[in-house]
Amino acid sequence: MTKKSAASHSLPVEELSLAQARAEHTSLGEDIARYDRAYYQEDAPLVPDADYDAARRRYEALEKAFPELVSEESLTKKVGAKPSEKFAKVKHAVPMLSLGNVFSDEEVRDFVARVRRFLGLSDVSPIACTAEPKIDGLSCSLRYERGHLVQAATRGDGYEGEDVTANIRTLKEVPQRLHDGAPEVLEVRGEVYMTHAAFAALNERQTAAGKQIFANPRNAAAGSLRQLDSRITAERPLHFFAYGWGEVSALPARTQWGVLQAFNAYGLKINPRTRLCESVEEMVAHYHAIEADRAMLGYDIDGVVYKVGDIALQERLGFVSRAPRWAVAHKFPAERATTILRDIEINVGRTGALTPVARLEPVTVGGVVVSNATLHNEDEIARKDIRIGDTVIVQRAGDVIPQIVEVIPEKRPHGAKPYEFPQVCPRCGSAALREIDEKTGEADVVRRCTGSLVCPAQAVERLKHFASRNAFDIEGLGDKQIEYFFAEGLIKTPSDIFTLEERDRKSLTRIKNREGFGETSVRNLFAAIEARRVIPINRFLYALGIRHVGETNARRLARHFGDFDSLRETARDAVPGTEARARIDCIDGIGPVVAEALHDFFAEPHNEKELDALLEQVTIEPMPQVASSSPVAGKTVVFTGSLERLTRDEAKAQAERFGAKVAASVSKKTDLVVAGPGAGSKLAKAQELGIEVITEDEWFKRTGQE
Ligand code: IVH
Repeated sequence: MTKKSAASHSLPVEELSLAQARAEHTSLGEDIARYDRAYYQEDAPLVPDADYDAARRRYEALEKAFPELVSEESLTKKVGAKPSEKFAKVKHAVPMLSLGNVFSDEEVRDFVARVRRFLGLSDVSPIACTAEPKIDGLSCSLRYERGHLVQAATRGDGYEGEDVTANIRTLKEVPQRLHDGAPEVLEVRGEVYMTHAAFAALNERQTAAGKQIFANPRNAAAGSLRQLDSRITAERPLHFFAYGWGEVSALPARTQWGVLQAFNAYGLKINPRTRLCESVEEMVAHYHAIEADRAMLGYDIDGVVYKVGDIALQERLGFVSRAPRWAVAHKFPAERATTILRDIEINVGRTGALTPVARLEPVTVGGVVVSNATLHNEDEIARKDIRIGDTVIVQRAGDVIPQIVEVIPEKRPHGAKPYEFPQVCPRCGSAALREIDEKTGEADVVRRCTGSLVCPAQAVERLKHFASRNAFDIEGLGDKQIEYFFAEGLIKTPSDIFTLEERDRKSLTRIKNREGFGETSVRNLFAAIEARRVIPINRFLYALGIRHVGETNARRLARHFGDFDSLRETARDAVPGTEARARIDCIDGIGPVVAEALHDFFAEPHNEKELDALLEQVTIEPMPQVASSSPVAGKTVVFTGSLERLTRDEAKAQAERFGAKVAASVSKKTDLVVAGPGAGSKLAKAQELGIEVITEDEWFKRTGQE
């Protein structure tokens, strides 16, 4: 315990003033957080259990006596521990991607229609799909070699997860050995979850022991699986349903249904409510049947997943961005509750966007306490005429941030005035403007602070993004710490992160003696920063937080350029009309808006300076060229004429899968033209330029598909 808390500790909570209670609550909270970290992540308890329990009880008693101390940050609201650096990382041989969502029967029809269109099938051709519950747990990939479980990994960011093999071995439903007949290599993918009964019992035990309780079964399952001590996992009853696969040496069947049946025969559990549907009507009917039985399942589900049954069709359909074209999640409707809007706050994001956030009277929506909701933008507030003091309906669906659906006008307090959206940045006072789209002449829905390089809010948000999980992923340098270091002037730009230790050593910062920083936490922080001095180019690009460059575009750019220097140079020179700009414009998936944003970023002198400083500190790993074994990798291909075996979309997706770029017109830069019957001017142009022309059948042979 720190001195402060020890001093007031002797007094019963009822005798404390609010100020005393607040001080003790803060310092006790820091103590408990430290104990938790040591216990959960470092596997090294700092205090005896009885002391921990006493601290926890006191903390709760303080919150009970002084409800104003309860906030979102409150430890009583926190669950589980953050994943630790101590789990080894596992690269997924086949990425673990996510699913697109639909919310209505109509959208399910659209999904099937899209599938047909992509495959070039008629509106009535049958498309069989499996329909199965979408389990609300956490996905896991189990690797079996010669029937033996050799590795289990969490999803992580989809490309790299955490090695949880020892923990997964404690699950009864995960066989250590598969029955005979399993392929040499089989990565089974599925969901780890906890039943309602087990969840309730766990929370009861946690409460009795004065430990944290979990907000929902999914958090409980995740917290339980990510234990460094697998004995703890073993005490938490977790279950597993298999629903898919990653790397496989030979698939046991050619349909989704067949593979699931094979999994079952190998000794894996598949969800009993999985069904093979022959039509959209059957799919939707099965969805409603599952929805009706939802409460009786005994575990949380948040929708139904439909997957195209024929695996050959799945392969043709492929993926778009991070989700398969051949599957979709039909989510259950959101849950709603009524509460009061206490205030509207304006957050300033990394790109200067002013986002209104509703501060609500806390209310439980579907088992989760909600005290904030997104208000989207000023037009939304005006459209719904949302005013401070209004009684509003909030809804939340799955992980999505809660939203305000509508206002109940009868309950509006007298004198409530329409909300006036600020015209200047609340953080730096710069003008906040809505950009006018050059083409449409319409104002952007988002109002942005124009002080990008002077606005502290933007600077902090950029730093948070820089250190975040899918960017530099610096453990221990979360939002809170960044805010602290920024406020103290210790980290102002990304490169400052990497000079922090050196400056500290020269006694310029002395982090160790500061509030909240002990010897170990400082050492751990420096180690975590050191561990990130080498970074793959796509993550680096994403970390820079360039507008319109999210993970997907960062990957596209990284894949195209390979190394950072050539990307940087090209982008800097990419003024419209130049050769450099043309090199960016030809990258598939990168449009003019992104090209412009790249140029703006790399040509800005402040950014150049910061990049140079950063590059002195970190090393960027170039992108390994994907699919370089394919003979069309890196080539620019044009499809023309009518194709008989592929739709246009499919041809394009296929070419991209083999690492080729698809262009719409033939130019000197074209490497290959695939021409079908009826090809006209493009074919002529190709012949004129002496570019190789092949047929659709030859395309299949060339790409090794037959
Ligand atoms: S298939 C590439 N099937 O939902 C397709 N996912 O939103 C991958 N999930 O990360 C997913 N039940 O954790 C699939 N029957 C099911 C599922 C399921 C739950 C989860 C899974 C995934 C997330 C995607």
